[in-house]
Amino acid sequence: MGPTPSFPSLRMRRLRRHDWARRLVAEHTLSPADFIWPLFPIDGQNRREPVGSMPGVERLSVDQIVRAAEEAMTLGIPVVALFPYTDPALKTPDGREALNPSNVICRAVRAIKKAVPDIGVLCDVALDPYTSHGHDGVIVDDDVANDETLEVLTKQALVQAEAGCDIIAPSDMMDGRVGAIRTGLEAAGLKNTLIMSYAAKYASAFYGPYRDAVGSAKALIGDKRTYQMDPANSDEAMREVALDIAEGADMVMVKPGMPYLDMVRRVKDEFRMPTFVYQVSGEYSMLMAAIERGWMERDRVILESLMGFKRAGANGVLTYFARDAAKLLKNR
Ligand code: PBG
Repeated sequence: MGPTPSFPSLRMRRLRRHDWARRLVAEHTLSPADFIWPLFPIDGQNRREPVGSMPGVERLSVDQIVRAAEEAMTLGIPVVALFPYTDPALKTPDGREALNPSNVICRAVRAIKKAVPDIGVLCDVALDPYTSHGHDGVIVDDDVANDETLEVLTKQALVQAEAGCDIIAPSDMMDGRVGAIRTGLEAAGLKNTLIMSYAAKYASAFYGPYRDAVGSAKALIGDKRTYQMDPANSDEAMREVALDIAEGADMVMVKPGMPYLDMVRRVKDEFRMPTFVYQVSGEYSMLMAAIERGWMERDRVILESLMGFKRAGANGVLTYFARDAAKLLKNR
């Protein structure tokens, strides 16, 4: 940088004086195209069931999921992400409902693709919504068994991709899962299925409300610290991201979001990959709790929280605020 003028020839506030000037020099923008909207399909017909721990979020039967996807399309949101609520009666230690081509996720994917073919559909790959113990993989000798889990996850990904899912998003943090899934997709002739890996995913208390939404909170025995990352680590996340890219990920994700903005920046700077960030359930519920109490201004805090991700280097955000934020941006 050249010589810097100083006060009073330099007055930083000149450029902040008017709305037009602020817009002119804005370094980052938010648009509905930045959002991926997570939805929670459930069995049944015409059902909308509030998620207690996430005010404003509902579990939706497949017909209602289609309505939501249509709304997303109209608002300019490019992708919806699906996370199933599984009937406890269908949960088993091996999570085999994940492999059922007629499970609620696959039915939702097919219904969306039929009604709104031009919206992208992302499916989470992990066993936790389907296992009776609430872990992301199968358990062998008290351990979430890596290699055995890879086989199941690959099958789960194939079932979802065959149903029409556009983006496979492994969220399990097993070693080698991106490579195993990529090999499986290629072998099945699914050459164009995208993989967005939850590359740097931390063992976080911010997932609490989500586990309520998918019904795994009560099921979960212990915690996920033997596979999800330690919040103390940053270099390790870079190794995780590098591995997933090498194994065939098209896009990478950092999760959670707000407490891990440093990782969004590091990952973007180092890899220059399409980089996404998940504003997770706990972040959503925390903001909603304050908004509901009148402690923070709803519209501004929603958009500010999302702009922070863009500023940190994210290409897009998975957020439960996607619909609300898209509406706010349209009405501005
Ligand atoms: C499943 C999964 C989780 C989330 C997305 N996929 C929870 C977990 O790992 O326990 C969290 C999403 C959120 O909190 O919004 N593996």
